[in-house]
Amino acid sequence: MEAATKPDQDRASGRAEAVAPFKTQLLKWVGSKQKIAHEIVRHFPPRFDAYHEPFLGAAGVMATLTPREGYGSDTFAPLIEIWQALQSDPDKLKGWYETRWRDFTSGNRDAAYQRIKSAYNAGPNGADFLFLTRSCYGGVVRFRKSDGHMSTPVGAHPPIPPKAFARRVDLWRMRLAGCRFDQMDFADAMARARPGDLVYCDPPYSHSQSILYGAQGFSLDRLFDSIAACKARGVFVALSIDGTKKSGLHDCEVPLPAGLFAREIMVTLGRSMLRRFQMGGQSCESEVVRDRLLLTY
Ligand SMILES: C[S@@+](CC[C@H](N)C(=O)[O-])C[C@H]1O[C@@H](n2cnc3c(N)ncnc32)[C@H](O)[C@@H]1O
Repeated sequence: MEAATKPDQDRASGRAEAVAPFKTQLLKWVGSKQKIAHEIVRHFPPRFDAYHEPFLGAAGVMATLTPREGYGSDTFAPLIEIWQALQSDPDKLKGWYETRWRDFTSGNRDAAYQRIKSAYNAGPNGADFLFLTRSCYGGVVRFRKSDGHMSTPVGAHPPIPPKAFARRVDLWRMRLAGCRFDQMDFADAMARARPGDLVYCDPPYSHSQSILYGAQGFSLDRLFDSIAACKARGVFVALSIDGTKKSGLHDCEVPLPAGLFAREIMVTLGRSMLRRFQMGGQSCESEVVRDRLLLTY
C-alpha cells in the first residue's frame, strides 16, 4: 500500500540531504531516472534556492527531491498537460485514466487500445497519452519517424486499476505541491533560473533517442550554451549526459566544452543479475544502472 505520507518539508529545495528512494511511478517512461534519483540528488549542492528541471519527462527526480519551490518543463505538450492536471484538477486526471481503463478491461483490450492510440495520434493529448504510457508494450512509448505517430503495440500486462492509480495521483500531488509546470524549450526554462538556483538537466541522448520523445531537434551545443550562461550568473547546473544502462555496451563520448564542468561523477545503483530470455535463458550478466553526472560546481 502506498502511504500518502507528507514529504518532509525540511528536505525541500535548499537542502539536498540524503533523500529516500521513491519508487512509486505515476507514468511509465523509458529513460526515467526515478530508480536512481535518490543517488543523483545526493550530488546536488548542499544549499540552493529554487529547483528547475527543464527536461522533466516522468518527473522521477523532481518527485524524489520534493522541492519546496520547483519549476518543471518539457517541450512535449501531452506530458505537461498531465503535470498541470495533477496540480490543478487531480480528479480530472483520475477520470482520464478510469474511463480508458474501463473501456480497456470491459471487452476487447486490443481494440480498445487501438481506439485510444488512434485518438491520440489524431490529436496528441494528455488524457490518451497517460493511459498509453501505462498500457503499452514494456512501457516504452515510441514515435514513428515518418509521421510522428505513437507506434508501440499494446502490452501484455494488466494496467493498474483506477483505485491504485488514484492513490498514486494523491501521493504525487503532495510531493509536487511546490512545483509548477510549463511547456517550453529548455533554453527558455534555464533562462528563468536566478543566482543560487539549481538546474538539473536530463536531455535526450542524441545517439539513441531520436525515436523517443520526438526529440529529433535537440542540440547538445545549444544546451552547453545555456549551461554556460547559467554558470556565469551563479546558477548551479547538474547534467546527466550518458546514462547507458548496461556497462560496456554503447558508451558515447560527448566532447565537453573546456572549463564548463568542475566535476564528473559516475552514479551507480547496485548490481543485479540480468537474464537474457532471448538467448534461451542461458546467459546471465550483471547489470549496473548508472548515470554520468556532470556538475558545474
Ligand atoms: C531523457 S528524457 C527525461 C527523463 C526524465 N529525467 C525522467 O526521469 O523521466 C528527455 C526529455 O527531454 C524532452 N525534450 C526533448 N527536447 C527538448 C527541448 N528542446 N526542450 C525541453 N525538453 C525537451 C523530452 O520530451 C523528454 O521528456
